Amino acid sequence: MIRSTEIRGKFSVFFKGRGHAVVPSSSLVPSDPSVLLTTAGMQQFKPYYTGEADPVRDFGAKSVASCQKSFRTSDIDEVGDERHLTFFEMLGNFSFGGYGKREAILYAYDFITAEMGLRISYVTVFEGSSSVPRDEESAGIWKELRSDIDVRYEGMDDVFWGPTGSSGPCGPTTEIYVKNGAGEDIEVWNIVFNQFFYPGSREELLAGTPGKELKPLAQFGVDTGMGLERLAMVTQKTRTVFETDLFAPLIAALPGELPNRVQRVIADHARGSAFLLADGVRPSNKGAGYVLRRLMRRVFAYIYLHALPIGVFEKLVTAVIADYGAEYPELGTHREAILSAMRSEREQFGKTMERGMKAIAAMDAIDAKAAFDLYQSMGMTYEIVKEVGGLKARGLSRADFDREFAKHQEASRAGAEKKFGGHGLILDTGELKAGNEEELAKVTRLHTATHLLQQALKDVLGAEVSQRGSDITVERTRFDFSFPRKVLPEELKRAEDIVNAKVGEDLPMTFVEMPIEEAKKTGALYYFKEKYPERVKVYYAGTSLKSAYSREFCGGPHVTHTGVVGKFKIMKEEAVSAGIRRIRATVE
Ligand code: GLY
Repeated sequence: MIRSTEIRGKFSVFFKGRGHAVVPSSSLVPSDPSVLLTTAGMQQFKPYYTGEADPVRDFGAKSVASCQKSFRTSDIDEVGDERHLTFFEMLGNFSFGGYGKREAILYAYDFITAEMGLRISYVTVFEGSSSVPRDEESAGIWKELRSDIDVRYEGMDDVFWGPTGSSGPCGPTTEIYVKNGAGEDIEVWNIVFNQFFYPGSREELLAGTPGKELKPLAQFGVDTGMGLERLAMVTQKTRTVFETDLFAPLIAALPGELPNRVQRVIADHARGSAFLLADGVRPSNKGAGYVLRRLMRRVFAYIYLHALPIGVFEKLVTAVIADYGAEYPELGTHREAILSAMRSEREQFGKTMERGMKAIAAMDAIDAKAAFDLYQSMGMTYEIVKEVGGLKARGLSRADFDREFAKHQEASRAGAEKKFGGHGLILDTGELKAGNEEELAKVTRLHTATHLLQQALKDVLGAEVSQRGSDITVERTRFDFSFPRKVLPEELKRAEDIVNAKVGEDLPMTFVEMPIEEAKKTGALYYFKEKYPERVKVYYAGTSLKSAYSREFCGGPHVTHTGVVGKFKIMKEEAVSAGIRRIRATVE
């Protein structure tokens, strides 16, 4: 049997041997603010397809391969059946102007047949649409590789990928199907040809939104995705992913008499929770934190309903850390934090769960409003209400529940607006605050300007300048730094001129993600008071990290080109305390 660790290893060796740089998985929490979680391997590489970033500079090659931690919330309601997962690992090879369809298909064919020893049942290719031609080329390449191969044509819904998030690269795909242990055909590999950029979301693309057209990309891109769990299922000849070595030890740690569906949900949610916690997500009522909360509470509810030992969740998460820790060291590094976050969520939910269960039992029918009340007052999540409510909740839909949730969030935002004088916040990183899209664009420009300012101050005043604080609102940036005396007006003017010159040069502003120790060696600036994770993003203004004008550890967001920052102006310089100065500045 080929074990899953061997599959990961074979995949890297195979692509390394074919000129690819092997890149570590990026965080499940993406830097792209338009997406909640990382859903595909290509996400961390988006700027390389559009030419905004240079892969040779960053990876030493035009093609890369990775095993990416991924999470899809769209499948959450299906988890528990034989196929769907929230968290999964995705193997992928990616090329940014490096190779074309022929190599992409040939590599996939060789890997599946020669390395994995599998037979391809059939492949799909794009049948064409009004704006994109039928992919005869891919069909021809497949036939050359195996003349009797079954090539099936499919449409936009199935074999056209992307874009991910609010805009991005996209294009037709060709997919490979292989039989699992039960003889069923399973899609294992999706090979995307990123030939286009779409300035909207996938929904807008499928709806044919007026004014939004596919634009050809200057370079041909390849983006492939192969779920490790499915590949393990077909190579290990099991019927479902839950019998592979990726899940079997987790399932085995649960009582055998537990219904299959419950076992699968618990195993899936334990993996998802451990990985989200390892990437710094904590249970909350919004964004990724809300997803995590729902996973964890569903497991706590099962433990209660099936009278399982209370420590079973911890046991599973500990098993995930042990099984996956070699591949993903962040699990081990954050072991204590993961377990303690689990305990505190259990304590918090434990206070109201039983009451919540009894309240559901006492109700006659549960609609969206009642379900939301159960969440508000007793922390019972949608999934729990739906399941425990059974027939009483049959009229309850996720869409209706989400609408109630959104209504409530609007109401609390209105409350917050009163409190903050008209500013409900859509972005609050601690450093940056914005109340709407327009403000977000402005604070993003100010944020990039602040990076340029820090470097300009170093240029003018010397290396002793270092950040002591930063606070950015829609009106201004406020930057505190160490410096022993008043900054002279001519020095301020020089710093201001430098920032404006860098804006004038329209430098690309991008980031690379890397282990913190490596990041420190790049000379990037970082704020000593901040607690940084194991892997950090280094934002830089310039055409390469090495030659960049400014380099800083930072979570973003930033503009993509300094040109859009606008005219930078220092308004005021003053003392904060002995040895600490403060500059307020704006952009037009
Ligand atoms: N980006 C290709 C895939 O995720 O399938």
